[in-house]
Amino acid sequence: MFINAVIALLLQAQTSNLPEHPVANTFKPLASPGQQEKDIAILTLAITGAIFVVVGGLIVYGIWRYRRRPGDVSTQEPAQVYGSNQIEAAWTVIPILIVFVLIGVTARVIGSIENASPPPSTVKVRLIGHQWWWTVEYPQFGVTSANEIHVPVATNGSPATYLQLESVDVIHSFWIPQLAGKTDLIPNRTNYAWIDPKEPGIYLGNCAEYCGTQHANMLLRVIAEPPADFNRWADEQKRAANPDPALARAREIFESLACVNCHTIKGTGAVGKFGPDLTHLMSRQTIGSGVTTLTHEHLREWVDDPQTIKPGCLMPSMQLTNEQLDQVVAYLESLH
Ligand code: CUA
Repeated sequence: MFINAVIALLLQAQTSNLPEHPVANTFKPLASPGQQEKDIAILTLAITGAIFVVVGGLIVYGIWRYRRRPGDVSTQEPAQVYGSNQIEAAWTVIPILIVFVLIGVTARVIGSIENASPPPSTVKVRLIGHQWWWTVEYPQFGVTSANEIHVPVATNGSPATYLQLESVDVIHSFWIPQLAGKTDLIPNRTNYAWIDPKEPGIYLGNCAEYCGTQHANMLLRVIAEPPADFNRWADEQKRAANPDPALARAREIFESLACVNCHTIKGTGAVGKFGPDLTHLMSRQTIGSGVTTLTHEHLREWVDDPQTIKPGCLMPSMQLTNEQLDQVVAYLESLH
């Protein structure tokens, strides 16, 4: 027990120099769904705030107005009155009306977001949740990537990117606070969401449904870029991996290892589907679904033993020798 606690502390100390994962502000939306949801949140806060002020004010007034005063006779009961039908009817009917207003407005916003049909120009993304990472597929482009979602910036207010959300294991939830509210990824069911980022940039998000040990490190990164840059990125991603003759030996070592049972590298013998597609690994900013930045040191540590960086993740340490480790990392670093 004690040993476990010490190990947990050591692991924490070891991972504490990893980058922060800020959760972006839902009150600064930069896409239409996020904007509509913010408006409805403000309306709800305004109505409930007004109720709070009225009720709280009446309580404070009552306490002050009927406080004990010198000369009060403590044994004397106050006058007993029956009440008032009008007032009771009013404080029953008014809250019901308020609740119906909130239900109506919420239903209208949810409906307008959920029922938005994608125009033909929409970029379609199939996002699949795994414990604890994301497959990102672009069926129109024949591209498969992981964890980082490249999308074009929305130019004319139409739903620029339409997401089809699925899960292979447990329930996960897609949430990019500045772009859209949460939508669950549910096994044996397909949900949809759309985003139209108004400004280029990197929008951070995370899985928002507890899905196991590494739920908190199942991060999302939406990279919104001008359409021309997005198309260039998609063209690059479509390619198979470029074989580097200088790394033939390294590639051979990689292909001889069990790595190929879980990972795909297009154009090689690696065709596994359990782990992220690595064809263009080096085009990403992070590894381990955002748990740390993609640098030489982190990649080497990760391949050596992923459990030190993301304890509990489903990738095992392959117990590679130093030489194998160098070769595998060199090969991975050639995957641009
Ligand atoms: Cu996936 Cu939480």
